[in-house]
Amino acid sequence: MNKVTILGSLNVDTILRIKRFPKPGETLPLIGKSIAGGGKGANQAIAAARAGAHTTFIGKVGQDQAGDFMVKQLTDSGVDDQFVQHSSEADTGSAIIMLDNSSENRILIDGGTNQQVTPADVDLAQSAIAESDFLIAQFETPQATTTHAFELAHAAKKRTILNPAPATTEVPAALLKLTDLIIPNETETETLTGVHVTDEHSMIKAAEACQALGVANVIITVGSKGAFWMRGQKHGFVPAYKVNAVDTTAAGDTFIGALSSVLTTDFSNLAEAVRFANRASSLAVQKLGAQPSIPTEAAILAAERA
Ligand code: RIB
Ligand code: NA
Repeated sequence: MNKVTILGSLNVDTILRIKRFPKPGETLPLIGKSIAGGGKGANQAIAAARAGAHTTFIGKVGQDQAGDFMVKQLTDSGVDDQFVQHSSEADTGSAIIMLDNSSENRILIDGGTNQQVTPADVDLAQSAIAESDFLIAQFETPQATTTHAFELAHAAKKRTILNPAPATTEVPAALLKLTDLIIPNETETETLTGVHVTDEHSMIKAAEACQALGVANVIITVGSKGAFWMRGQKHGFVPAYKVNAVDTTAAGDTFIGALSSVLTTDFSNLAEAVRFANRASSLAVQKLGAQPSIPTEAAILAAERA
């Protein structure tokens, strides 16, 4: 069983279902409104744990009901919460997710305590990082903290996975040099490398650009199309499973968490792990809400047999 430590965000997601997005100045009624656990870090942790990894989370919530709710989402799925700090500095992170009839989403984030995760918080979890196969982080917590955590992981000869999401042009070169596997989507790939991803040729170019930045292993996720992987000189494309998507929120997070539960630390089974991760995310997109939609190992294996 893989041991995975995830450094990242926790958000309470408010999902607003609408027929279509309002135009400037326009007022529209909601079709429905619901609350679910979210945040890229917490989603990835829950995906890893449900897929069977021994999972530890490093993050920060407020001293509020939202914080208690988010911690419960982690622990209910078996994620170790001993390095989740409860801080009075800010409110627990939250997100407003607008979901239209075509299941396209638009997201607004209030970072809250996710912005307050410090290198000192990471130091408290040093032993967990040193005992893990993988350390995973995203861009909803401060990059300086992530860079510090990746340094600790490498000092302990552990592998690091970076999901550079949400997209930002400000990515420290030092962080990329400390990254063993990077997993951007199309938008994040273009922001990072300047390569507009369309076909396999552009994916190879983009992945090589990531390698030039110091990352040996690359997976570019391309939504309902599937995922491209590159390991050293080798590369391949794994098509997605065809399903009817109702909510793609956390599809990428599910992919990353599930992947980390089966990936070997030498990355030699990258293609096979991508296929398993594709299966997990194909299940997540068929249900509403981020964390409620993340499948268990049993559900993923059942879908494999079906
Ligand atoms: O990746 C999906 C997540 O992004 C949502 O759960 C939302 O909280 C935002 O962080
Ligand atoms: Na979903």
